[in-house]
Amino acid sequence: MKKVFVKSYGCQMNVYDAERMADMLASEGYSETKAMEEADLVILNTCHIREKAAEKVYSELGRVRELKQERQAHGRETKVVVAGCVAQAEGKEILRRAPAVDVVVGPQNYHNLPALLKKSRTDRVVDTEFPIEDKFDHLPAPTKAKTQSRGVSAFLTIQEGCDKFCTFCVVPYTRGAEVSRPVAKILDEALRLADAGVRELTLIGQNVNAYHGEGPDGSVWSLGRLLHRLADVPGIVRLRYTTSHPRDMDDELIAAHRDLPAVMPYLHLPVQSGSDRILDVMNRKHTGDEYRRLIERIRHVQPNLALSSDFIVGFPGETDAEFEETMRLVADVGFSSSFSFKYSPRPGTPAAEIEAQVSEAVKAERLARLQNLLEMQRQAFNHGTVGQSLDVLLEKPGRHPGQMAGKSPYLQPVQFQSDRHAVGEIVTVRITQAGSNSLFGEWVGPGSQAAA
Ligand code: SAH
Ligand code: SF4
Ligand code: F3S
Repeated sequence: MKKVFVKSYGCQMNVYDAERMADMLASEGYSETKAMEEADLVILNTCHIREKAAEKVYSELGRVRELKQERQAHGRETKVVVAGCVAQAEGKEILRRAPAVDVVVGPQNYHNLPALLKKSRTDRVVDTEFPIEDKFDHLPAPTKAKTQSRGVSAFLTIQEGCDKFCTFCVVPYTRGAEVSRPVAKILDEALRLADAGVRELTLIGQNVNAYHGEGPDGSVWSLGRLLHRLADVPGIVRLRYTTSHPRDMDDELIAAHRDLPAVMPYLHLPVQSGSDRILDVMNRKHTGDEYRRLIERIRHVQPNLALSSDFIVGFPGETDAEFEETMRLVADVGFSSSFSFKYSPRPGTPAAEIEAQVSEAVKAERLARLQNLLEMQRQAFNHGTVGQSLDVLLEKPGRHPGQMAGKSPYLQPVQFQSDRHAVGEIVTVRITQAGSNSLFGEWVGPGSQAAA
């Protein structure tokens, strides 16, 4: 049997896509391996979001080339595929820069992989046209055993692409226009996952709360409505969704945080900056105060909400005072975890053309200050859960014998002593200690989320 090695960079959608590629290649006779050197097919599923991410691929391709030559010396062939957002953005430029690459395939075309691999026997090939048909209609489902091996928490893509065109971002170009999958297909996939023991679904999309898929009745469903339907799937006890845009948090979605116990009190809602002028130049189409008010409304219906965000420091033209407004917004809102980045100019995006770029030194200094504040908030949030009894979804045995590990509603890793609980159960754990990355606690009883 031939072996495939897939490595993913970037966001959760790439993780999901990597699984779909592996599922499709399984029906072509490939089994998955975690060791690149034994792979007959190496797929790098790439990310183009920041320069560093994109450049990483080329250094990895250098390693892959050596491996390919070494295997060839032993009479073994290795096919090399570059998939994902760098593939989409750079296309045949990749073939020029990286001689080891056989196939370049964009995120909307990977259902063509078997055909592309066949073609690559005679030619190096690039497939980055945005297709008319839906790739999901061509992708086989994994076996039940495969799904089981992936654990009790699963990603499910419900929406892809982006029409927002934030001026710093490549995603609208690499993933294409916003497309929502029909409710019936999402439901089929959810039922299949639940049947294999999945308890938690994280609905994913580049702009997941802009979801507007066709319902079984022909009408357009919002994310709020979809969450209600998925909460009824037997076995599914936790629902999350990511990544959301502040402009798309509608009333129905906010109400779902109040009405559906399965919807976790955790929200990743990137704000990027606290400065109204910067937000405007970023084309985010909301102000800092509008974000604050939105958070107040969600916290009003779900007082336990833990918030997370992405931030960019050193966006072109950002002054010291404008950066301070980001610091103030963070102090005002309070985040339980976050991602923050130095602005990275991306080819083809409007912000990269702005002349007043911020120096590396200033970016580095701002990032350090922001990350310091965010880290203090994260630690404070984690310490705040000590003494509380939290529902924990058990995901795997813990690091030490007799331990179990799972996640709190707020996505915190939790460990506790247990020899009688099974993966997939939800139990109540009283938190006794907050470490730097995990919480520790003791079992106190079954979870409050009914084991449906
Ligand atoms: N759709 C999501 C973001 C996807 S990209 C949203 O709208 O929030 C993930 C994060 O990468 C972004 O939130 C942003 O903080 C960061 N990012 C995107 N482009 C960037 C760039 N050019 N430089 C630095 N960070 C960037
Ligand atoms: Fe990028 Fe903005 Fe779209 Fe998010 S909403 S993917 S940051 S363009
Ligand atoms: Fe990266 Fe593409 Fe995701 S650029 S963040 S892999 S959508």
